[in-house]
Amino acid sequence: MGAALARCLKPGLVVYLSGELGAGKTTLARGILRGLGYTGKVKSPSFALVELYKVSRLYLYHFDFYRFTDSRELGDAGFRDYFNPDAVCLVEWPEKAAGALPAADIRIGMKVAGSGRQAEIDADTETGRLCLERLEH
Ligand SMILES: Nc1ncnc2c1ncn2[C@@H]1O[C@H](COP(=O)(O)OP(=O)(O)OP(=O)(O)O)[C@@H](O)[C@H]1O
Ligand SMILES: [Mg+2]
Repeated sequence: MGAALARCLKPGLVVYLSGELGAGKTTLARGILRGLGYTGKVKSPSFALVELYKVSRLYLYHFDFYRFTDSRELGDAGFRDYFNPDAVCLVEWPEKAAGALPAADIRIGMKVAGSGRQAEIDADTETGRLCLERLEH
C-alpha cells in the first residue's frame, strides 16, 4: 500500500494517518518512503515530532503529534512552514494538534486486523481525489 501511495503522491499533499497505538501508521509511512526509493532509516517521529526526508526532488515531512499537548505551540515551533506546496506531509496523531494543522487532502484510518492491518482511505479535497484516482489505476 505504501508503494501504491508513493506512486500517486504529489508535492503539497497533506495526509493524515489515524488509528490507535500500533495501528501501523509509522509502518505505512516507511512503506511510502521505500516506495519513493528511500533506503535509509525511517524512525518514528514520536520524540522529534518531525522527521525530514528528501527523496530525489521530493520533500517529505513525517510528523507524529502524539506527545504534543498544546496546539498553540505549533505556530511558535514554526511547524506551519513545513506545510507548503513543495512538500508532502504525513501526519500521525493529527487529532492531537487539532485546529492548528492545515486540513487533510487525504485521510487514512488504520486498524489492527488479526496479524495484519486494515486501512480506509478518504479524500477531502480535489487534489486528494486526483491522487486516489491515480491509486486506483
Ligand atoms: N500491515 C502490517 N501488518 C502486520 N504488522 C504490522 C503492520 N503494520 C504495522 N505492523 C506492526 O505493528 C507494530 C506497530 O506499528 P507502527 O509503529 O507502524 O504503529 P503506529 O500506528 O505508528 O503506532 P504509534 O501510534 O505508536 O505511532 C509494529 O510492530 C509493526 O511491525
Ligand atoms: Mg507511529
